[in-house]
Amino acid sequence: MPKLHIKTFGCQMNEYDSSRMTDLLHASHGYQTTADAREADLVLLNTCSVREKAQEKVFSQLGQWRQLKLRRPQMVIGVGGCVASQEGAMILRRAPYVDMVFGPQTLHRLPAMLDRVFAAREKASPPREVDVRFPEIEKFDCLPPPRADGVKAFVSVMEGCSKYCTFCVVPYTRGTEFSRPFDDVITEIYELAERGVREVTLLGQNVNGYRGARHAGEKMNFAELLHYVAAVDGIGRVRFTTSHPLECTPQLARAFADIPELAGHMHLPAQSGSDRILRAMKRGYTAAEYVEWIAQLRAARPDISISSDFIVGFPGESGEDFAATMELIERVGYDQSFSFVYSARPGTPAAEFPDDVSAEEKKARLAKLQKRINEMSAEISARMVGGAERVLVEGASRKDASRLSGRTENNRVVNFDAPAKSSAENLRGEFVQVKITEALPNSLRGELLPPDNMTMAESRAAA
Ligand code: SAM
Ligand code: F3S
Repeated sequence: MPKLHIKTFGCQMNEYDSSRMTDLLHASHGYQTTADAREADLVLLNTCSVREKAQEKVFSQLGQWRQLKLRRPQMVIGVGGCVASQEGAMILRRAPYVDMVFGPQTLHRLPAMLDRVFAAREKASPPREVDVRFPEIEKFDCLPPPRADGVKAFVSVMEGCSKYCTFCVVPYTRGTEFSRPFDDVITEIYELAERGVREVTLLGQNVNGYRGARHAGEKMNFAELLHYVAAVDGIGRVRFTTSHPLECTPQLARAFADIPELAGHMHLPAQSGSDRILRAMKRGYTAAEYVEWIAQLRAARPDISISSDFIVGFPGESGEDFAATMELIERVGYDQSFSFVYSARPGTPAAEFPDDVSAEEKKARLAKLQKRINEMSAEISARMVGGAERVLVEGASRKDASRLSGRTENNRVVNFDAPAKSSAENLRGEFVQVKITEALPNSLRGELLPPDNMTMAESRAAA
């Protein structure tokens, strides 16, 4: 069996794409994955260009693989993802040992590209493969059904972005928004559920902007999609990421009240709490509108946990602007954030904006923001101690195989003791109630509670 090694930079969308490449190349050429690039016949780099140093990171990784290829000339090297999409053939000029360059929307053409690479190798100067176009719809039609390994799975429902925030490269690297037809999405989820998946995470750059065609052609919105997904037999929990505040609707808020399978968590990137900066970012909402939306969510699901992305040090961000972001954080009360210092992306409007804030100041602001959100997160964990949480059992705990492990609705890992007979094998894929006994910095500890109709004593006797 030929061996495949994939290295992934960036977001969950890229992780998802990498898993689809693995499935595809397994189906087409029988590739088996390996964590060790040294023994791989095919190495693929799935790149991300959302923040700086992406190009440098890519060429430094490729430089390492070049050494491997010098020892094993038959090795095939491919570069995909957003840097590939931006740089295209330039990658081949700078790294002539690379065989294939493909984009986020052409990864389904990998098997054919690979065949052409093999065929061309017989020639003295083999042409190399570059295909970074955006033939959107074709991609999903050409991918094999996902292989479910485990009780959780990602399902991409929409791709690309048409929002063009002034700081972001995604619309240029992944193309404009398009939604997969409803029939395709729901069939994929039925198949995953049949293979034991109990939790699905619906993915998209602006997933709540889903507008997929129904069977008869008219469009379905995201809240409607959630109802259908939650109704699939076997699916006990539904998550989604990433959402855009402009795509939030009262119907989506109501979904949190009406759909018990919908996990009580929403990742809703605010980016900034300053209206001036939000305007310069072209986000399309004010801080007050964002807060109003959070209030609607909390009215529907009072204990919902909220996380966000923040960009600190956007060009021209004053001390006052940053204070407004900190104020927003206090008003919302976040559970987590992915926050970074602004990074100028070539080709985006904000890269031309004047910027007079020093790098030190930006770093200090970021540290302050992250410290506050970490405190909030620790407070939420501490408040969970003593309560009961619905947990999907994923298997044995990584650090201690005698314990079981799973995640709470607000996405915290919980490792918990269970009676001897409740082994990882017989509880994997079950939703159980766990009493939280301790909050640690990166996880929770707990103990399995008996099912509702069994007392503790009966449960011990059963064990
Ligand atoms: N759809 C999401 C939204 O509503 O904003 C964002 C998806 S974007 C690919 C992921 C995150 O990357 C953004 O939320 C933003 O915080 C961060 N990001 C994008 N461009 C950036 C840049 N130039 N500098 C720093 N962070 C950036
Ligand atoms: Fe980027 Fe803004 Fe779209 S952050 S992915 S352009 S919503």
